[in-house]
Amino acid sequence: MTTHSSSAQILDGKALSVQVLDELQATVSARIAAGKSQPGLATVLVGDDPASHIYVRNKRRACKKVGVASFHHELPAETGQRRLLELIEKLNQDPKVHGILIQLPLPKGFDYDENEVLSTIHADKDADGFHPFNQGALLQGREAPIPCTPKGVMRLLDLAKLDLSGLHAVVVGRSNIVGKPVALLLLARNMTVTICHSRTKDLAAEVRRADVVVAAVGISELVQGDWIKPGAVVLDVGINRNAEGKLVGDVDFHAACQNAAWITPVPGGVGPMTIGMLLQNTVEAASLKD
Ligand code: GUN
Repeated sequence: MTTHSSSAQILDGKALSVQVLDELQATVSARIAAGKSQPGLATVLVGDDPASHIYVRNKRRACKKVGVASFHHELPAETGQRRLLELIEKLNQDPKVHGILIQLPLPKGFDYDENEVLSTIHADKDADGFHPFNQGALLQGREAPIPCTPKGVMRLLDLAKLDLSGLHAVVVGRSNIVGKPVALLLLARNMTVTICHSRTKDLAAEVRRADVVVAAVGISELVQGDWIKPGAVVLDVGINRNAEGKLVGDVDFHAACQNAAWITPVPGGVGPMTIGMLLQNTVEAASLKD
């Protein structure tokens, strides 16, 4: 068997996110120098999911780096929906808070209704772009906060400098947070978009037709390297631990590198971009106020 040296170029999300945060820091300094308010992001963490704690800690660190005020609230899992909605109402009214983020998932086995919680956030303060009003705006192609991970995927895709119009994108995964919104963003670039999911009959055949692959299913290395069309761009949203405890994406990275022209690594690809886009949504929300 011959071994091929990998040919794909890396879409470096870590480097791009540093650049995004640097630019935001300059924007925030300029706002403050001009006598405008400091942008503020409220993070709300319900329960004790360890991964969620790490994600929120990283989001708060990024706030500090950029000069965005961070207001953090932790509630025990048994707090219940009524108290959570009261807190959201308080944050809706607080002029220092420009963005509100409720870390998902909410604890299972309690009375939380995720849709109701997300609808309670004022649409103007929806740093995640999860409010139904903002999701509807995305569907209709109107200006609104865009969910952070899909927005980060598009920024990375832009690094490949492809003329996307008429090309075929395959999105693997249909979540409200990633799969559906990223499909809409690709469609808005005039791509032909296929959304695949757990009931798709022949996933390999669908992916083989893709000029752009977005993998967002949360299954370790589900997408095989030989499914990737030569020259395709591969964006891997997955963050999974494999059987050996190693962090891997939804794509078999090393095998995919043989065929892809551009690919995001895990870690260091889409993940860091999500935080950059969250801060961008927060700073943009503040700039709409003054
Ligand atoms: N859980 C996993 N991803 C996200 C995200 O982008 N935002 C929030 N709020 N929760 C998440």
